[in-house]
Amino acid sequence: MNLAASIRTAPVRLTLLVLSATCVLLAARQGKAGEKPAPAGPRGVEEDPIEDNAERMLREGRHTFRFDTFGDEDFWGGQLRLHEAVAGQALGGVGAGLSPRAALALGLKVDVEALPVELQRALVAGQVNLNDPAVTIALLDLNAVVGLTGFVDDGRGLASIGIQCALCHSDVDDSLAPGIGRRQDGWANRDLDVGAIVNLAPDLTAIAELLEVSQETVRRVLLSWGPGKFDAALLLDGKAFAPDGSSAATLIPPAFGLAGVNLHTYTGWGGVSHWNAFVANIEMHGKGTFFDPRLDDPVQFPVAAKAGFGHIQNVPDLVTSKLAALQFYQLAIPAPQPPEGSFDAAAAQRGQALFVGRAGCSACHVAPLFTEPGWNLHRAEEIGIDSFQADRSPDKRYRTTPLKGLWSHSKGGYYHDGRFGSLHEVVAHYEQTFQLGLLNTEQEQLVQYLLSL
Ligand code: HEC
Ligand code: HEC
Repeated sequence: MNLAASIRTAPVRLTLLVLSATCVLLAARQGKAGEKPAPAGPRGVEEDPIEDNAERMLREGRHTFRFDTFGDEDFWGGQLRLHEAVAGQALGGVGAGLSPRAALALGLKVDVEALPVELQRALVAGQVNLNDPAVTIALLDLNAVVGLTGFVDDGRGLASIGIQCALCHSDVDDSLAPGIGRRQDGWANRDLDVGAIVNLAPDLTAIAELLEVSQETVRRVLLSWGPGKFDAALLLDGKAFAPDGSSAATLIPPAFGLAGVNLHTYTGWGGVSHWNAFVANIEMHGKGTFFDPRLDDPVQFPVAAKAGFGHIQNVPDLVTSKLAALQFYQLAIPAPQPPEGSFDAAAAQRGQALFVGRAGCSACHVAPLFTEPGWNLHRAEEIGIDSFQADRSPDKRYRTTPLKGLWSHSKGGYYHDGRFGSLHEVVAHYEQTFQLGLLNTEQEQLVQYLLSL
């Protein structure tokens, strides 16, 4: 099936498909409402304003996390013209275009639940042309590309493109094919090559001017990140490489299991809502309000201080009204349980005893949060590493990483920059730093415990 053609010739059919899906959803919801249990006691559960609010916040927050661009299409589409590279010259853009196959290879994910059933069948049967950028546009039109919104215009094709939180902080379960499945909100997308995707954009003037470098330099930096990484501090201090020449980018962290954790990001910039406002305005280039005078320091943050990133005010503000529910939703995302049989339970139990005992891990990673309840930051020397990344943040420290769901983001390694390729290496690092005197079998038991979290 030529999906692109079918969408061009039969937009009505697709709209009907979407409409009928909506009807089914509405009917299901009504059915559920009709089955509400009788009120328990003097005030029924359904009348509890706090529960009603929680449900509303969860729904709104999920919608924002998955679909809201905060108006950032004016940057990604309007200024960088990224949509033109996606469409390709044949469809009114530039270059070869981004085929679904190439998009999947860059780590972009497809939400199977956004695909009409007949399209799912065609995909399974290999009847969809995955080499045709028109199919990518059709997928964008279905809102099926996780974290990307294509603004598809009947007359002009792909008119713009925007990005969402889900781009980096959601994966899919590959239920239909690799890269195509049900959404897993909060999972770190360690396949996603953000730098290579941004590098597709034909015009990087906006970033080059901000950093006061050439577009070629910007492209070289973007291509130095690699899959699963992004540099959230680049637009603050302009540092692209660590003193040893390695990339200054950090791994995309999960956004699950964050409830109860005080400071967020690898270097403890602030609470979830601080960082959400930071990212929506400064990294995604959405249009909101952001206040953080720590960014006025021209020595530590020359780029941010010059650009006034600590004092952003857009009218209208498309971010601030969404922050409450967005935070609520993130805090509601549990860390995923490790698959059955993915670790040795007996060894993990012995590992747990070491974790809270002789290995001293729980001095910082306090269960069940696995970070400190309180001010969860440490100087670099306390964990035996260099301070490069810590020094790029206001408190110049590293935040104790919450450890739940570690098994789900082994790709790309561990610690902020992925310097340790495996949990074995992490444990060996602690053995060396703290002279713990753990036998190899004991180190393995610690690893099994970490895999069980
Ligand atoms: C382009 C990829 C990208 C996008 C888009 C993105 N993030 Fe992030 N996010 C990152 C990276 C990388 C970090 C780590 C930054 C650091 O620690 O220096 C991060 C860190 C975080 C953290 C801290 C997690 C922790 O362990 O404390 C939260 C929370 C978060 N992001 C939420 C969001 C939300 C909400 C949005 C949308 C408003 C968003 N992110 C958009 C890449 C992204
Ligand atoms: C002094 C406090 C402290 C102690 C003690 C400590 N950690 Fe950590 N841990 C941290 C900090 C801070 C980080 C973040 C380092 C980074 O990202 O660069 C971290 C990161 C980690 C990570 C990487 C998580 C990720 O997603 O990248 C693992 C795994 C870990 N620690 C396990 C342990 C184990 C096992 C022990 C005991 C042998 C231990 N830690 C002892 C503070 C501590």
